[in-house]
Amino acid sequence: SDEPLVIFTPSGKRGRFAVGTPILTAARQLGVDLDSVCGGRGICSKCQITPSYGDFSKHNITVREDALSPWNSVEQRYQDKRGLKEGRRLGCQATVQADVVIDVPPESQVHKQVVRKRAEARDIILNPSTKLFYVEVAEPDMHDPSGDLERLQDAMREQWQLEKVNADLHILQTMQPILRKGAWKVTVAVHLGDQENPARIMHIWPGYYEGTVYGLAVDLGSTTIAAHLCDLQTGEVVASSGTMNPQIRFGEDLMSRVSYSMMNPDGAQEMTRAVREGMNGLFAQIAEEANVDPILIMDAVFVCNPVMHHLFLGIDPFELGQAPFALTTSNAIRLRADDLDLNIHQSARVYLLPCIAGHVGADAAAVALSEAPDKSDDLMLVVDVGTNAEILLGNKDKVLACSSPTGPAFEGAQISSGQRAAPGAIERVEIDPATKIARFKVIGSDIWSDDPAFEAEIANTGVTGICGSGIIEMVAEMRMHGIVDAPGLIGTAEQTGSPNVFPDGRTNSYLVYDGTASGGPKITVTNRDIREIQMAKAALYSGARLLMDKFGVDKVDRVVLAGAFGAHISPLHAMVLGMIPDAPLDKVTSAGNAAGTGARIALLNTEARAEIEATVRAIHKIETAIEPRFQEHFVNASAIPNAVEPFPILNS
Ligand code: FES
Repeated sequence: SDEPLVIFTPSGKRGRFAVGTPILTAARQLGVDLDSVCGGRGICSKCQITPSYGDFSKHNITVREDALSPWNSVEQRYQDKRGLKEGRRLGCQATVQADVVIDVPPESQVHKQVVRKRAEARDIILNPSTKLFYVEVAEPDMHDPSGDLERLQDAMREQWQLEKVNADLHILQTMQPILRKGAWKVTVAVHLGDQENPARIMHIWPGYYEGTVYGLAVDLGSTTIAAHLCDLQTGEVVASSGTMNPQIRFGEDLMSRVSYSMMNPDGAQEMTRAVREGMNGLFAQIAEEANVDPILIMDAVFVCNPVMHHLFLGIDPFELGQAPFALTTSNAIRLRADDLDLNIHQSARVYLLPCIAGHVGADAAAVALSEAPDKSDDLMLVVDVGTNAEILLGNKDKVLACSSPTGPAFEGAQISSGQRAAPGAIERVEIDPATKIARFKVIGSDIWSDDPAFEAEIANTGVTGICGSGIIEMVAEMRMHGIVDAPGLIGTAEQTGSPNVFPDGRTNSYLVYDGTASGGPKITVTNRDIREIQMAKAALYSGARLLMDKFGVDKVDRVVLAGAFGAHISPLHAMVLGMIPDAPLDKVTSAGNAAGTGARIALLNTEARAEIEATVRAIHKIETAIEPRFQEHFVNASAIPNAVEPFPILNS
């Protein structure tokens, strides 16, 4: 054929098209991902492309300067009003004249890659639930009477192949003046539907709507609620914010909240109200920060543990407080914002990820979505460390899950000088092998405590305590330098050779920092603190070890530490302590807030929802409480690093 050849990059898709074919049309026929909201009318500029000229010996073609049609009036008008970047053309206006190579820049792709993960994890492609469509609607006709909605539906079918998109009452109540104001040209936000819900009109604007629509990815934790506001057209996070979970006043940890609901007749409702109010406060704040009208927030994804899940939905968590820990439902849940009294667009779609089991929630499902052990060739151990550790072990053949009650020690609670991670908290520790004296860094500063500049550096906060990662490093360092023995006892100053050890009741303690001269605290590690850390790490380790038994392995290929806290743990110290199984240190990585990333993935890619639902159904749940081996592992794991397990890689 002597029709011109059109080659698209980066997809490499190619085909021959008649002279005069718009590039947008060629792209559609070849299945090239080129965006358009206005349907080729030269209004939206989403279809921008960059033609390349010159010799393409690889493709055996030469692209002439006149390979595309010259600018037409529509393109010129767009250029005059808004301006196009150098070298860009509107794909719906430029037509093929001769062989040409067309680059589709990332911002013109609908399904762009958005969540850029670490090298070992996959990339996420944008595929949002709600999209914008510009349509031209037929005017009403006395001779052929039909409703405005029906003509709008006809237009969406003809212009966008959208079948039977229905409208909620609030749309019917407002659509007539909007259609007339836009002179029968409108932009429609359509929720494209899912397994359970047909497509629906979310919002209508007169004429071409220049703005965008948004979604929220929310990680509802027992202590904090964190939200990311995302642009559903670009996938970008436009604002992130967090707030304390107001339920804290009903109990610090989950079980105390469950018992609050048992002891108080309206306890569960009170907590439901509190968390929804907190959530609305956070949403208002984040919308204001990003200067976004909350009505433009049309989709929201939530991840949380089972107790938070029930309380957020207004379900009494009573059954989760006692064996056999039955969930009301473990399936994913699809609702509307007004079902949950959320002050975003009233018909905004709300999606809660599925729960894995009574103790392993939608947050763990989100971690699985983010870290994808089910797609890994390597055997991966994924640990989300919190007051409850959620543990996943698996590869592409199978994935096992359990939770383990680590308690709050890793968050600095129940530690004599412990505190939450905040400026002033000790987070990094090193003990000098010769002097056996500790030096440290606090959150908010990069200067070690033995640097002369340290006191001036921390003048604002002072040294206030030790946070979770700090206490882990502290205990591990004490073990590495012979100050603590394998069973967890601090030796005397004489035995250990450390001037910082002092007798403290019937045991010994270690002085980390003495700020009393300047009115600050004295920060010590007591033998009870060591005990608390031993209990917490033993719970974590024995959960992981139990899953390894069930899998029939005694080593793992990779360890991923997830959770805000996990991000700050030093892999070496975690292993010295025996928190995690022996593994090559370079195979122990931190995934940061993987649950939050999972929520963002489910928000931006609706196909990921079906995917995680299938994955969760296939995950084998192990209940640690009824496994006799768990106790045995726990006892062994109380020693540092372990009474029976060798750590061959660590020791080499
Ligand atoms: Fe909207 Fe080209 S498709 S400007």
